Amino acid sequence: MSDMTNRPVNRKIVLVEHVKGQVKPEHFRLEEEEARAPDDGEVLIAVDTISIDAFIRTSLNDWEGLHTQTPIGGVVGTLNVGRVVESNSDALAVGDAVTGGLGSQTYATVPAATVQKIDDSLPLSTYLGALGLTTGLTAYFGMLQVGQVKEGETVLVSGAAGAVGSVAGQIAKIAGAKKVIGIAGGKEKCEFLTGTLGFDGAIDYKNENVDARIKELAPDGIDVFFDNVGGEILDFALDNIRERGRVAICGAISQYDDHLNVKGPSLYLRLAERYARMEGFTVMHFMDQYGKAYADLSEWLKNGKLKVVEHVEEGIESFPIALQKLFTGGHMGKMLVKV
Ligand SMILES: NC(=O)c1ccc[n+]([C@@H]2O[C@H](COP(=O)([O-])OP(=O)(O)OC[C@H]3O[C@@H](n4cnc5c(N)ncnc54)[C@H](OP(=O)(O)O)[C@@H]3O)[C@@H](O)[C@H]2O)c1
Repeated sequence: MSDMTNRPVNRKIVLVEHVKGQVKPEHFRLEEEEARAPDDGEVLIAVDTISIDAFIRTSLNDWEGLHTQTPIGGVVGTLNVGRVVESNSDALAVGDAVTGGLGSQTYATVPAATVQKIDDSLPLSTYLGALGLTTGLTAYFGMLQVGQVKEGETVLVSGAAGAVGSVAGQIAKIAGAKKVIGIAGGKEKCEFLTGTLGFDGAIDYKNENVDARIKELAPDGIDVFFDNVGGEILDFALDNIRERGRVAICGAISQYDDHLNVKGPSLYLRLAERYARMEGFTVMHFMDQYGKAYADLSEWLKNGKLKVVEHVEEGIESFPIALQKLFTGGHMGKMLVKV
């Protein structure tokens, strides 16, 4: 327990108007206030890093979707890591490192029970990236449980240079896939996939014919397609799916700006023709297996099988631009804001 008389100033990014189409910096405003003192059972946390995730976009609409909506004037819901600076709970002490949903702000006063204590022998940002719910764990369950990748198979990943995609492709290799091909925007990202991450091939969807390149790189077809993007890329993958292939629908980032008019696949009959299947998931569906996922991902990190790549924007004021960049593709690996 501690008593802090000079409470710090909380700098917070709030929503100015609901977002239609592309998210832009003008949708947000920076405000300041005194951080609230923790009530019984609460802690005051200094936020260290904010995870910039695609789900944030779907929480900025003016209608209720899968994710809780941010009200006008409200702090944007995000996943974070931070340290306890004031405690009114026996569960957490000053200095403890924690992860949880703390929002787009520099300080958060929350019930201690809503955050999880983490081991700070690792850099805290690891709990948002490689060991993060919306990154490492999502890639893990999507590739292994939904994609059910097997030794010797050919795997295609869209959004491959981003947070989830870059981990998903590496997990496919760890699981013994013979060939892992990534789809990403631009030459630099494609070189990153094959050079830094060990992918066997890369397709630049902004400058190449995706269908022709899949056929060239995987002439016998695709066993597992891990999809982060949706739209026409999903159709190209379906056209090249193999007999008994699996399509894991992780997300459809090409569709989030117009969520009420999502363009579905027109080639879904390939699933019937090839006795293939397409299955969607959220990471929350695997809550009972998080322990095993943490253990495996931690082991792969330690023995260097899994590379962590982070793109860090500095300062809470960079939150809006970082979120915009997530959709325009201005990063590789995990997008973070260090506050
Ligand atoms: N199912 C779950 O539980 C779960 C959990 C977390 C995330 N997700 C999903 O995983 C996906 C990736 O999320 P992330 O946080 O890892 O983001 P990310 O991949 O780090 O960033 C998004 C990337 O998507 C690409 N992109 C954006 N618009 C595109 C378009 N129109 N066509 C093709 N590519 C486009 C951009 O890369 P380029 O430069 O290559 O275009 C951008 O870098 C999202 O769909 C997200 O919703 C699902």
